[in-house]
Amino acid sequence: MEQRFGDLIIRLSNGISHRRMYFDAHPRVVAVSREAAAELAAVLRGNGESTFSFGVFGGKFVRHGHYLVGPSIAGRALVDFAERLHCGGFTFDAKVTAADLIAFFRLGAERGVAFTGLDEARIAFAREGLGHIGLAPPLAEVGPVDAEVHADAMAAACGKGDFEPLVDIYQAMYDAVSKNALAVNDSGAIDVDRALAAGAGLISLNTGGALDVMQFLRYPDYDSYTIGHSVRVAALSTLIGRKLGWSEPVLTELAAAGLLHDVGKGRIPAEILFKPGRLDEAERRVVEAHPETGARILLDNGERSALIMAATWGHHLRHDGGGYPRRPAWHLPGVVAELVHVCDVFEALTARRPYKRPLSPACAFELMLGDIDGFHPRLLAALIEVLGLYPPGSEVRLSDGRRAVVVTRGKALDRPRVRATHDQGGVPLAHELQPALDLDRAPDLSVTELLTVGIGDCPATGS
Ligand SMILES: [Fe+2]
Ligand SMILES: [Fe+2]
Repeated sequence: MEQRFGDLIIRLSNGISHRRMYFDAHPRVVAVSREAAAELAAVLRGNGESTFSFGVFGGKFVRHGHYLVGPSIAGRALVDFAERLHCGGFTFDAKVTAADLIAFFRLGAERGVAFTGLDEARIAFAREGLGHIGLAPPLAEVGPVDAEVHADAMAAACGKGDFEPLVDIYQAMYDAVSKNALAVNDSGAIDVDRALAAGAGLISLNTGGALDVMQFLRYPDYDSYTIGHSVRVAALSTLIGRKLGWSEPVLTELAAAGLLHDVGKGRIPAEILFKPGRLDEAERRVVEAHPETGARILLDNGERSALIMAATWGHHLRHDGGGYPRRPAWHLPGVVAELVHVCDVFEALTARRPYKRPLSPACAFELMLGDIDGFHPRLLAALIEVLGLYPPGSEVRLSDGRRAVVVTRGKALDRPRVRATHDQGGVPLAHELQPALDLDRAPDLSVTELLTVGIGDCPATGS
């Protein structure tokens, strides 16, 4: 259920992002508002509550005293809106309609409109007829002592705040992709330095920290998939690059390359990019132009990094010479583009998309191994080696009945280190009470089931 709350917050934030690009009656804005209104009604029904509320504190979402990590990263547009409104949280009641949400998204999208304080923001909401959406006062107004207690309590709930740097790094990566995606259609000026700075943050972590970042790499909403996809490809690529012993400057460029590799997709019309069904021939050609478009956009911005250019232009080239774009006679295969290709395909297979359910990592490995000519064998082996069968962030069931989330892989591919999130009776455990378990050192325990929601059947095995 908690995940559903997080999903809904991201959906509300996406509504603001869509409204920034389009207009009230645009089909995407209408669709997002309808989906969010339906999801809100379903969440309230499922939870037996009359309102859905959450706080915004220190630039992050909070619910029941816990930071919501994924939404805090993916829901920046809504965090920014809360800050502009001078409010400390939102309350949505069951009567909120799709039309209300369109007005809410419009107010959120109009960044030029400044409010002097919460009272003025509330008047603007009343003028728009948004009586079913409440604005909470900022937490700081509760009083300095209470605010401090609140902050301490939340830091404690989140493992003494030790994941805060991870959130900031991940947020910087997410912003680098989303701001550049917007810029492609707006000014056309791509901020490669922003991507490099975000990459440097990721590389500053040790391997364990980078694997921890992977725990946050789950996004519920396919509207944001081009952004989440690039962040995940960047994180995966650098994990493998590190495993291969590449230097820090190269890894930083590699991370930026992962963040930018699909920048050309910004020029694909949303109707094609988000089309749920099969693409026709003409639409497929439009999609397959994105590596060349991306390389051209980077060149137009004066980009000089051969590594970033190679990854952007060549990440859909197969190891056996197939794929796209068409290779000129002088083209030499490059290991960076091949690495981004391996990570790109793995991410796409294991991600949720409008037209498909995600495959389990084991299924994805099996499919990729079955198409062995398509991938650089050493890079594919390194991917499997780095991730193991249960990549960080996967939810699993243990042989003693507990549910757990994978923190990092262990020595054996199938014996990860995990954090138990539920007890044997299925009762969720508070974050600070979740035991860390190293299955390499617990011979009696094993993973019996991969629970990550919505995992599709494995077509390679039919299992
Ligand atoms: Fe691509
Ligand atoms: Fe991609």
